[in-house]
Formats: sequence, C-alpha cells, structure tokens
Amino acid sequence: MEKTVNIFLFGKKYEVPADLTIMTAMEYAGYQLKRGCGCRNGFCGACATIYRIAGKQELKMALACQTQVEDGMYIATMPFFPLVKQVYDIEKVTPDQMIMMQLYPEIYACVGCNACTKACPQGLNTMQYIAYAQRGDFKACADESFDCVMCGICSSRCPAGISHPQVAMLARRLNGKYLTPDAQHLLEKVRSIEAGEIEAAMQEMMNKSDEEIREAYNTRDIEK
Ligand code: FES
Repeated sequence: MEKTVNIFLFGKKYEVPADLTIMTAMEYAGYQLKRGCGCRNGFCGACATIYRIAGKQELKMALACQTQVEDGMYIATMPFFPLVKQVYDIEKVTPDQMIMMQLYPEIYACVGCNACTKACPQGLNTMQYIAYAQRGDFKACADESFDCVMCGICSSRCPAGISHPQVAMLARRLNGKYLTPDAQHLLEKVRSIEAGEIEAAMQEMMNKSDEEIREAYNTRDIEK
C-alpha cells in the first residue's frame, strides 16, 4: 500500500499519498483549484502557500506546486496578496534614485529584519535587492531579483509594507530599457519583420503540422 501522510487543509484533516505536492494533495482531497494555480511548474507564482508542521514553531512559505507534503502540515494557500503597484510611463522616467523615492518611498523604511529573504520560496536575497534599489543600483537589483515569480510572500511578511516584487519589476524595466546596451541582432530581426522579410518563412511554418512544428522547435538553433 502506498505511504500516506496526514495534512490539514484550512484546518481540516486529510490522509493523502506522501509523494504528492501540496497542490496535487489538494486536488486529491477534492479541492478544485480555480485560484492559486497557474503554471504548475514553479514559474508563475500563483500558488503561494504558508504552512506550519504540527508542534513546530516555525511558519514556512512555499510554492504549492513545488513542495512535497509532509506529515502534520497545517496548510493555507495565499492565492493573492495585495501588493502596491504604482502606475508609471516607462518612456518618461529616468533610471536614478529619485524614481524609487517617488514611486516606492516605503523601501527606505526597511528595518533590516530580513523576513522577506527568509520567506522567499525562490531562495532570493530579497532584502539585498531592496538595498540595491534604495541606492539606485538597478542593474544589481534586476540581477538579484531575476528569478522572482511575484508570489508576494515576501511582502506578506514585511513590517515596512514594502511591495518587493513590484520594486524589482521597476528595476528590471529600468535596467532593460535604459541601462542594458541594445541587442543589435534583435533590432535587426525587428527591422526585418517590419520590412516583411520573413513572411514566406512564417507562411511555411503556418502550413506545418503540430508534429513538424514540435520537431522544428526541438531541433532549432539555440542562441548562445
Ligand atoms: S502554479 Fe505556477 S508557480 Fe505554482
């Protein structure tokens, strides 16, 4: 007989196979996931989850699709967290410290507790990337936050009310638009698309079967 564990979903006990993820265990228990479930592969950040193992003090954070169930898990999913998302026109901002002061001044109220870093299910050094944002080092902030899936767990733990994923998103946009040199090969490709030079190749691709497209994709040249 397959090994099972006891878990608690929103306070109710279920016995589930031990090799399931939190997400598949919820479905096994009969939950139909309409929220808190997206890519199922650790990329979209829709499945933010908090849990505590019975008898243990520590509150843990995880992505439900990436985390295996454990015996005695008390689980609550957090499919949405209200981040502060400022509206700006990326064409009209400048990549200096002032933009963070204007849009996300709360980052300067960081108390250095590091709860954000400890909470990140991606293992990012969240407090560090906020420190980079504070001093206007948007490239470092963009690099450090690159694997953020915007689940919002960091912000749920922040006593200063910082919306870390949105701060990082702004830094990556500034970095991409103003600080990273233009990719010449990409500009050339855009020019060639706009000039209609790839129409024939597009038509050829559109006429392929699913299998041929899969084969073409799997044998494509991968940019170094
Ligand atoms: S469902 Fe997308 S990260 Fe879990």
